[in-house]
Amino acid sequence: MNNTDIKTALSDLRSSVKKVGFICAMDCELDAVTKLFSDLTIKKYGSIKFFCGKICGVEAIAAKCGVGKVFAAICAQTMILGFAPDLIINTGVAGNLSDTLRIGDIALSSAVVQHDMDTSPLGDPVGLISGINKIEIESDISAALVMQSALSTIGINNTIGIIASGDQFIASPEKKQQIKENFSAISCEMEGASVGHTCYVNGVRFLVVRAISDDADNSSPDDFPAYCVKVSENSSKAILEFMKMIA
Ligand code: ADE
Repeated sequence: MNNTDIKTALSDLRSSVKKVGFICAMDCELDAVTKLFSDLTIKKYGSIKFFCGKICGVEAIAAKCGVGKVFAAICAQTMILGFAPDLIINTGVAGNLSDTLRIGDIALSSAVVQHDMDTSPLGDPVGLISGINKIEIESDISAALVMQSALSTIGINNTIGIIASGDQFIASPEKKQQIKENFSAISCEMEGASVGHTCYVNGVRFLVVRAISDDADNSSPDDFPAYCVKVSENSSKAILEFMKMIA
């Protein structure tokens, strides 16, 4: 990232992003976002509670989708139809697949993949989403660059790369290795690619921002509950700085 890239990215976001949507899977992840809101009101669509307000003067909406790809897609589609956000940020925690990230660091998406999408017996590559004929869905590069700049301002280590989602909690070296090998992903979680898929088909910009809670191996069943709340604080700091920058 050079200064010209970040300047261009920032002016892009400042001119075209007036409303930002946040989608989180769990309460501890949502709390990290909603505590930043002013002028808070709540609207319910179907079973989903949407928190509406402002962060640093920028209009924002946030919702808890629940765990897994189906809940995430339901929430993203409802948010898009109900609130028309210019950008959706899927935030929360993730398992680490990268050698350059540690617990508490942040993974930012360049693209998302669904590691459990598999029609390979029909001759397709693993991860291919038929219908859109893509394995990787690219996320918004301007949003990633501005978020990266926000993270460097507040001193949180981060990497931009592919984030892999699936309806599985990854907690073994073998499964971790398989996802790394198949997709060159830097982190794994259970919603980001579903939010990305929904945004893609609706023409909405999106970014996945995930604080590392565990190493997606045998230590994950202990580390995930131990670090979930603590590392979500880093996502909160990142979002605050990002919203300050685009205001
Ligand atoms: N979210 C946080 N850690 C995870 C893991 N190891 N697998 C899937 N989702 C996660």
